[in-house]
Amino acid sequence: MIENSTLVLFGAKGNLSRVKLIPGLFHLDESGQLPDNMKILSVGRQTSTQEDWQKEVKGMLDKKFKDGYCKKTYKRFIERNIYHANLTEDPEAFQKFSKKLNEKKLFSQNLAFFLSVRPSDFALIVDQLADVGLLDQTKGWKRVLIEKPFGTNLKSAIELQESISKHLNEEQIYRIDHYLGKSALQNILITRFANSILEPIWNNTHIDHIQITNHEMLGVGDRTIFYESTGALRDMIQSHLLQMMALTTMEQPKSFSPNDIRDEKIKLLNAIKPFGKNDFNNHTYRAQYAAGEIKGEGGVEGYLNEVGNQDSITETYAAVKIFIDTPRWKGVPIYLRTAKRLNASGTNISIKFKNGDSLIGDNNNWIIFDIQPKESTAIEITTKTPGLDENELRPTNLEGFNRVDGDESIDAYETLMLDLMNGNQSRFLHIDEVTAQWKFVDPIIDYWTKNKVKLNQYKSGDSDPESSKIIFDDPSQFWR
Ligand SMILES: NC(=O)c1ccc[n+]([C@@H]2O[C@H](COP(=O)([O-])OP(=O)(O)OC[C@H]3O[C@@H](n4cnc5c(N)ncnc54)[C@H](OP(=O)(O)O)[C@@H]3O)[C@@H](O)[C@H]2O)c1
Repeated sequence: MIENSTLVLFGAKGNLSRVKLIPGLFHLDESGQLPDNMKILSVGRQTSTQEDWQKEVKGMLDKKFKDGYCKKTYKRFIERNIYHANLTEDPEAFQKFSKKLNEKKLFSQNLAFFLSVRPSDFALIVDQLADVGLLDQTKGWKRVLIEKPFGTNLKSAIELQESISKHLNEEQIYRIDHYLGKSALQNILITRFANSILEPIWNNTHIDHIQITNHEMLGVGDRTIFYESTGALRDMIQSHLLQMMALTTMEQPKSFSPNDIRDEKIKLLNAIKPFGKNDFNNHTYRAQYAAGEIKGEGGVEGYLNEVGNQDSITETYAAVKIFIDTPRWKGVPIYLRTAKRLNASGTNISIKFKNGDSLIGDNNNWIIFDIQPKESTAIEITTKTPGLDENELRPTNLEGFNRVDGDESIDAYETLMLDLMNGNQSRFLHIDEVTAQWKFVDPIIDYWTKNKVKLNQYKSGDSDPESSKIIFDDPSQFWR
């Protein structure tokens, strides 16, 4: 059980809060994870009575838990969830907010601020909290969770860091990458370091290459404005896929303490080999989806029509080839790719082993970590096909499911909110990880922009564009 604290949710009426955070907190309450006296102070910018807020919360829960939910938990949850209107036009708003938090000793002074607000509001809110003394740790700890993205490039990430670090030390800042809250991602470290059979083969002597993939059948939907200013490289590769790479390739930490885990990820991310000026054209690739059909259903619009901008050069497919400059990984290409509107959805890490000296030809060995929608670990080996033909071989997939019926299902945000209240930063990004990630991504965006690099096209519902294979290091390699 976590220490008593107050979770202060800024942006309580926003989309993330409605869909994930409030239902997630309810689920934590239902599973007995929240201390009896813990309060949730839901902060929005609109006036709302407590009664209206309770109706809104009920609406969020009804929408999320269609099969119903525990009425006893509901009563407890609704009583611990208090709404506060933080009106923009009121110059005294933060003084009133501070007074509220000190009201009738209702709220624990261990304060966890979850800033589920637009990135342009992060720095301002931290300043405003500091101005009214709410980040002062003399009467209890103060932690601030910053939503994604932390900056839109290296410069803005450093500016944001400079601004918030005037008031907060690193131990108080929780930078989110919600993929790190996924159980399947946590399983990568466990699988690697709890199974000693893997360590001897986890290196450039045995591994041919690694593919880290996130593909979606969905398009941009109603997030057109966000996506136009972001694109696939920034949206997925800048943090989620680079973090998946770091977990797959980092050295074993000295211990599983948050600092030791993050230290090893930082070292790994800083060891990414920077691209030379001739590398960009065959180490990076971008494309955009055109109209097509998904699973036999035609009439799927192309990206340009969806965003209503025929001149958009925003990529919806991005792939990069990375080399890590360490003795373990020298010469092993790591391919990161992400796309919208492909023929299938899935997030996975696929590790291809070298052929070795087999007498029987290619051995085609893979280890595959499926992250979503299924959570599994598979090993692919070559076996003989039963029958008279001794030479007829086929791949056999030995797949173990990491999630079985009856296993607890915890959303990534639930894990991360508990971590925030427990003071566990291992699944949050250190500033050095964020800056290393932007140092990798910024030059690609600069190169694409300055050199007007071709934006390829693919039909909605197709597999990876043929031209994306330009980034392969060897003709024998193929997208899994
Ligand atoms: N939605 C997702 O699935 C998702 C996924 C990944 C990351 N994120 C990140 O999560 C954050 C929130 O996203 P969202 O989609 O929920 O955004 P959103 O729907 O725009 O909600 C943000 C909310 O914050 C409120 N707000 C702003 N300043 C405030 C203040 N000083 N006090 C109280 N409330 C304040 C806004 O109020 P007004 O309406 O009055 O402006 C709005 O209700 C963003 O940083 C986003 O990048 C979201």
